[in-house]
Amino acid sequence: MTDQIKKKSNTNDYVFKDGFKYQHDNPYHDRLKAFDGFVLRDNEGEENCGNWAKKEFKNDNPIEVEIGSGYGHFMLEYTQNNHSINFVGLDHRFKRSFQLAKKLDKMEVKNFRYLRARGERLAHLFGESEVSKIFYFFPDPWPKTRHHKKRLFQKTFLDQAYKVLRNDGIFLIKTDHDEYFDWMVDVAQKDERFEVQMQSYDLRSEFPDHFLASFKTKFEKIFLEKGIKIKAMVLKINK
Ligand SMILES: C[S@@+](CC[C@H](N)C(=O)[O-])C[C@H]1O[C@@H](n2cnc3c(N)ncnc32)[C@H](O)[C@@H]1O
Repeated sequence: MTDQIKKKSNTNDYVFKDGFKYQHDNPYHDRLKAFDGFVLRDNEGEENCGNWAKKEFKNDNPIEVEIGSGYGHFMLEYTQNNHSINFVGLDHRFKRSFQLAKKLDKMEVKNFRYLRARGERLAHLFGESEVSKIFYFFPDPWPKTRHHKKRLFQKTFLDQAYKVLRNDGIFLIKTDHDEYFDWMVDVAQKDERFEVQMQSYDLRSEFPDHFLASFKTKFEKIFLEKGIKIKAMVLKINK
């Protein structure tokens, strides 16, 4: 991979811009083509912006988006238990995307699309008020101070979330990481466009009956086994 490609794909500022073009030389980009029916790669996803339900799913069901689907534990369970939604899961790692695509291929109900794409492109992937829910589970916390700028959850990202969410839209978050959680709570509380509907430093003790406590993602299982408390937040949009 050239330095130029590496630099571009690692820079938040760059991917927020309109003129951004996905660039890479990863062999899994081509291998993902084998799952054409439900996998979209890079700008293929952006071509559906504003028209996901009609163009891609051929229905009027609500669009729900997961950022950082990873190995897909949530996506697989949730979509098969909720047939009347259109679920779009995205992750930027190629090999992980390929492993997940193989599992998704076996699902009978294909009420999902999987995007090899970056969360920073949210407002380029979805149109104004197109999304009813955003899920963001166990994101990379970028703990070093010099890396904080790489954190997805910041004001510029909330601008995008505000644009794409419907006026009854919600944003659901879970993390193991205390400091990134404090950061997200702080960013959300400063933003009058969002209302913190639920917030917990110990989801399973404080809200055992909440939807967010009803499933465990792959990373969540690892953290729970280590005795780490799960932090959770639900944001409601004020549109
Ligand atoms: C720690 S894993 C969590 C995966 C899954 N949500 C879970 O809970 O098991 C974080 C995932 O987010 C993906 N990711 C990180 N930054 C991303 C970004 N900016 N856009 C899309 N995916 C991203 C990573 O590739 C990784 O698969």
